[in-house]
Amino acid sequence: MNICIVGAGYVGLVTGACFADLGHKVICVDNDRKKIEALKKLKMPFYEKGLHDMVKRNVKAKRLSFSSRIEEGVKKSIVIFICVGTPPRPSGEADLSSIEHVATEVARNLSSYCIVVEKSTVPVKTGKWVEHTIKLNARKKVKFDVASNPEFLREGTAIDDFLHPDRIVIGVESKKAEKILLDLYKGIDAEVVVTDIKSAELIKHASNSFLATKISFINSVANICERTGANIAEVAHGMGLDTRIGKSFLRSGIGYGGFCFPKDLDAFIHISGKLGYDFGILKAARKVNEEQKALFVRKIEEALWIVKAKTVGILGLAFKPNTDDMRFAPSIDIIDSLKENGAKIKVYDPQAMEKARGVLKGVTFCKDPYEAAMNSDALAIVTEWHEFEVMDLDRIKKLMKKPLVVDGRNIFDPQRMKEMGFEYISIGR
Ligand code: UGA
Repeated sequence: MNICIVGAGYVGLVTGACFADLGHKVICVDNDRKKIEALKKLKMPFYEKGLHDMVKRNVKAKRLSFSSRIEEGVKKSIVIFICVGTPPRPSGEADLSSIEHVATEVARNLSSYCIVVEKSTVPVKTGKWVEHTIKLNARKKVKFDVASNPEFLREGTAIDDFLHPDRIVIGVESKKAEKILLDLYKGIDAEVVVTDIKSAELIKHASNSFLATKISFINSVANICERTGANIAEVAHGMGLDTRIGKSFLRSGIGYGGFCFPKDLDAFIHISGKLGYDFGILKAARKVNEEQKALFVRKIEEALWIVKAKTVGILGLAFKPNTDDMRFAPSIDIIDSLKENGAKIKVYDPQAMEKARGVLKGVTFCKDPYEAAMNSDALAIVTEWHEFEVMDLDRIKKLMKKPLVVDGRNIFDPQRMKEMGFEYISIGR
């Protein structure tokens, strides 16, 4: 099938590469010419495991191409995926201007039947607006369908998530669109949920919000563990064995970050409010998440006593391991708070250094965890990269001014750290 992907960001590029790998002919379009030129030279705009090889393979096989001209993609394709960003406005509302722009451009270039599919995360009822915008701007009277096919991939495991999803959600309002989209996903073995467009839109917002709430819930329980001497790892394990609860997303830490959960929660709260419903649970989940970062900073500060002029080494900057994504990374707020209180900051991340240089100012960038530990009064673990789990702790201890480790991701065994002579502070245990 000929497919056009509009927006070569995380979702668009991974989706395009995976569909090409399934044997479809894909054109990825983006109005960022530099990005497209780089992609033509097989340079990825971000780090994602396995993506470079997959793109290379499919470009070589002539199943995947790139263009900065939307008309090129729209005219040739039967399915057009909208994968542009829906960033938050200051009010928390999703900014849908890029969606409107793409819908208008698609409409102007429509020449034969196609399905316009929302893949970006959008508030419920966006599909109706996309349909309306296309009708308003179409130059010819061409039949089209709108559909919603939300993506559930996680950064770091995006390709695997795309090819082996828990479910595929297809929101459609015509049998024709349903058949074409089912055919498109034929190579993937997963349960397919076919629904109306509004339900599909809601499945995405509700899923992300539920997962974020699960994280805030376990972080709240971790705070009770700290006050009672219970151990959050054991509590989470005991809870997670109940299949109704499930083991995943019960890791307590410094709270969720990234470009999905914080903005999707905000957008879901906002659209619920607009529909006349005050989504209190989500407001509470958001509050817990903000407090969790502040609590982590307080732990560092209490362990240091006087923060001013002390050096804190930060291990991990990306919002989670196996990505270089710094958007809404908890590290940013944590570093800002420590700096405000006069701490000197040294940072290291295995992948996110380049992106971090654009975001973090007034910090020292280090070449490895050992340089970050050197002469530091405290070492704060902010992202649970495997590289930190296996680092030489004896060497770290010798390099530090004071062997203090504040672990926001619970990557070490407290007993072992104590035996090694560290003052070790973690979350909920
Ligand atoms: C999330 C969802 O998991 C995907 O299903 C969804 O497609 C994506 O958003 C999206 O909407 O595009 P992602 O943001 O890439 O994916 O990352 P996650 O692995 O879900 O982690 C999100 C945040 O939660 C991270 O900051 C992570 O550290 C935190 N987290 C996750 C915890 O603090 N505890 C956990 O147990 C799990």
